[in-house]
Amino acid sequence: MKPIDFEKRRKTVMAQIGLGNIGLIPSAPDRTRNRDVDYPFRQDSDFYYLTGFNESSALAVFIPGREQGEYILFCREFDEKKKLWEGSHSGLEGAITHYLADDSFPIDDLNDILPGMLENKHKVFYPMGRDSELDHNLLEWINHLKKQSRNCVNAPGELVSLEHILHEMRLFKTTAELKLMRKAAQISAKAHIRAMKNCKAGMYEYQVEAEIIHELMQSGLRAVAYPSIVAGGKNACTLHYVKNESKLRKNDLLLIDAGGECEHYAADITRTFPISGKFSVAQKQLYQLVLDVQLAAIEQIKPGIVWNDIHQLSIRMMTTGLIKLGLLKGDRDSLIEDEKYKEFYMHRLGHWLGMDVHDVGDYKIEEEWRVLEKGMVLTIEPGVYVQPDCETVVAKWRGIGIRIEDDILVTQHGYEVLSVDVPKTIEEIETLMQEN
Ligand code: GLY
Ligand code: MN
Ligand code: MN
Repeated sequence: MKPIDFEKRRKTVMAQIGLGNIGLIPSAPDRTRNRDVDYPFRQDSDFYYLTGFNESSALAVFIPGREQGEYILFCREFDEKKKLWEGSHSGLEGAITHYLADDSFPIDDLNDILPGMLENKHKVFYPMGRDSELDHNLLEWINHLKKQSRNCVNAPGELVSLEHILHEMRLFKTTAELKLMRKAAQISAKAHIRAMKNCKAGMYEYQVEAEIIHELMQSGLRAVAYPSIVAGGKNACTLHYVKNESKLRKNDLLLIDAGGECEHYAADITRTFPISGKFSVAQKQLYQLVLDVQLAAIEQIKPGIVWNDIHQLSIRMMTTGLIKLGLLKGDRDSLIEDEKYKEFYMHRLGHWLGMDVHDVGDYKIEEEWRVLEKGMVLTIEPGVYVQPDCETVVAKWRGIGIRIEDDILVTQHGYEVLSVDVPKTIEEIETLMQEN
């Protein structure tokens, strides 16, 4: 992504904020892990989307029509001592030369400078409730201005969510964004293949996780987009299992939900495969059901399709399949109406994907489910999870958890599977695993 790409986005946002108003967006903070140690810094996605600036302690300000420049970046001043300990950082000059800010000020001077920028503005657009310090300061600054009304200074009268504007923009991916998402998906696919090839009974789940991280980093992605789920056997029935600490057993399946992040864009891929390299009959039957649902759902994707219709299709197919296999008993429509399928398929079919793994963007517009449009990226990830203590099914199904997840771009006439490189038919998986 080039500085000019961020500038284009700022111009779009600026136009929506409008003359006479102001927009504010804070960076992510540093977060302490334990004494003197921080978690690896991850910039706030909205802030990065508009600035490309990858430091904490920063605030971007947008003032359409401001004579001295519309885009102001408050950030840390360049500090030689800090450079010695932590490496180079942008400083006020860098904010202008590298990040195309029109003006930059020290973040330490925010309290002195920002109230002046709020003077006589009507609306303040900002992400309400995200940064409690900003929430607090903003109200203080506004109160301060109100007290000056005798000097013909007006305080802003409206606080408006900036997210609404930004998140609608982020929902539609540009060519430059898609390039990063393809790269994230392709490298994550390699990581899944490496994990499949190297997985053996007796290993610990975290050792398979290490194979994933190894491939992501060797291929140039510095971070996972979310903590990897590496869940052997019944651990896969815990949807957000991230302990990854059990030993793999040869007759179990292994569910891996993992994806890397490429310049702040995520991949989110799940595969489930037999640790031995060969599916048992019961595993095969359930796996094929989930795969059939996933393929049918993906096949639906094109502009104009209602997002929730695909979810409903997945429920109908899953329920029919579970009846056929004997996990559910009764009439399909009643089982759906009574939500009995939720015992085995309890999450939604997918979600938007982008800078955040569960990306931003409304799923409904004025109570109506959204229609898919070109440039949206979503996951399709049906799953079946039979809890180990489920007494309503015969023993062979218990403790099986299967999810298959791919990342799909809505194209002009259909779809593109960004994560297409990871094997997912039974035959492909068994062939790959037996190559060892
Ligand atoms: N990895 C989280 C999800 O699939 O939604
Ligand atoms: Mn997902
Ligand atoms: Mn996932």
